[in-house]
Amino acid sequence: MSARDTILREIGLTPIWLARSQPPQLIEIESAELQAREAANIAQHAAELRDSGESRESREAREARIANLPWSQIDADIAECQACQLCKTRTLTVPGVGVAAPEWMVIGEAPGENEDKQGEPFVGRAGKLLDQMLDAVGKSRTRNVFIANVVKCRPPGNRDPLPEEIDACAPYLARQISLAQPKLLLAVGKFAGQQLLNTDATVGAMRAKPGRRDNIPVVVTYHPSYLLRSPLEKAKAWEDLNLARSLAAQSA
Ligand code: URA
Repeated sequence: MSARDTILREIGLTPIWLARSQPPQLIEIESAELQAREAANIAQHAAELRDSGESRESREAREARIANLPWSQIDADIAECQACQLCKTRTLTVPGVGVAAPEWMVIGEAPGENEDKQGEPFVGRAGKLLDQMLDAVGKSRTRNVFIANVVKCRPPGNRDPLPEEIDACAPYLARQISLAQPKLLLAVGKFAGQQLLNTDATVGAMRAKPGRRDNIPVVVTYHPSYLLRSPLEKAKAWEDLNLARSLAAQSA
């Protein structure tokens, strides 16, 4: 057992973090029909965008409007958003959850099936693990954290978000960060890290080199879904959380 494992065990993290005998993850298999429907949606949305011409809010006007939204209007604005094709297949939008003036802001990738039904980020198995990770460093969505995703609507079948979907949602994420003004941004997974740090680096490379976004320290760690599949990596995530804690203390 490594020294790190011993420490984790002594502080009581092991029983929380280690996977018990868990059922194999359900793998969603997209049917050909679902894929065809999505392709049709994308094509139709693109055609609508082309046809609607001047009546549609310009990209610049939309960005400027979102950049000035108060906290009280962001969720409603996102609920009306039709800037990308995900609006056609979502059940609920998932703007974010937590306190308005958080110590930490956690950024994930995109809502999954449970989040799409409940309108709240990280409510499934990965969310439970995320809550445990945060709890281990004294953080929680009910007390001192705000949690948001790069993309606010569920990509069908939990596929990766497309670049145009990430772009369309970027003004909302930027506005949430500027309103929240957290001491620390914790990016969980590749998409969040890449979006916050404006890079195409791997999670491994981003973990090794914390950056800044709007002068706020950014720590990148593994996505909780990945940690559920690869529990041995939880020790590295624990290192990242401790780094986050010390960077947040310095930026206080
Ligand atoms: N994964 C994410 O990245 N975000 C969620 O809200 C749920 C799962």
